[in-house]
Amino acid sequence: MADLTAIYGSPRRNGNTSTLLSKAVEGAREQGNTVKEYVLRDMNISPCLEIYSCKKDGECSIKDDFQGIRDDMLQSSGIMLASPIFFYAVTAHTKMFMDRFQSLWVKKYWINETPFGKWTPIRKCLFISAGATSGKKLFDGALYTMKYFCDTLDMEMWNSLLYRGLDGPKDVQKHEEYLQEARDAGRDLASSLS
Ligand SMILES: Cc1cc2nc3c(=O)[nH]c(=O)nc-3n(C[C@H](O)[C@H](O)[C@H](O)COP(=O)(O)O)c2cc1C
Repeated sequence: MADLTAIYGSPRRNGNTSTLLSKAVEGAREQGNTVKEYVLRDMNISPCLEIYSCKKDGECSIKDDFQGIRDDMLQSSGIMLASPIFFYAVTAHTKMFMDRFQSLWVKKYWINETPFGKWTPIRKCLFISAGATSGKKLFDGALYTMKYFCDTLDMEMWNSLLYRGLDGPKDVQKHEEYLQEARDAGRDLASSLS
């Protein structure tokens, strides 16, 4: 049995990426795995203020909903994160949340002096994204962000589901195959962790 955390990064509660992620959550729960879900738009999470009090011990001095989600993520072996593309990047909600993990980056690289690029993955990540257009580079910015976010959390980018041409909040529902793919990915991620 595995513990996973699912992070919904879209401001739309029932839009394309939220629908896809909820399918992945269903898939992950099929075998009795535990998945905690967080909707970032409903959380109280400050952006990083660059105070750098985390240089002392890796703890962020801004106390809000970040700490609870972080602790769940650190106890999880699987993370599922969904964000649509906003101006070729992840959403502001997602990025504000990610930036708070600078405290963990500081702990890993400055306090514990982990050599860059030398770490063992201890958790796996499924990234789900969608954008309205069909550009070849649509997901490049978000994937770079994810790469370094994964590094900070000692996390392997296990799989990413990237869907072009989705704009209206129900567009994804016209693609049963996308929903099935998300469900399968959640199930396969969870079974790869057990
Ligand atoms: C502020 C904003 C910026 C956006 N920027 C892009 C973009 O750069 N490229 C693109 O293809 N779609 C862009 N979109 C469209 C969304 O990515 C698209 O509607 C997506 O399906 C929304 O996913 P959701 O329903 O999960 O929120 C943007 C939408 C908004 C609101």
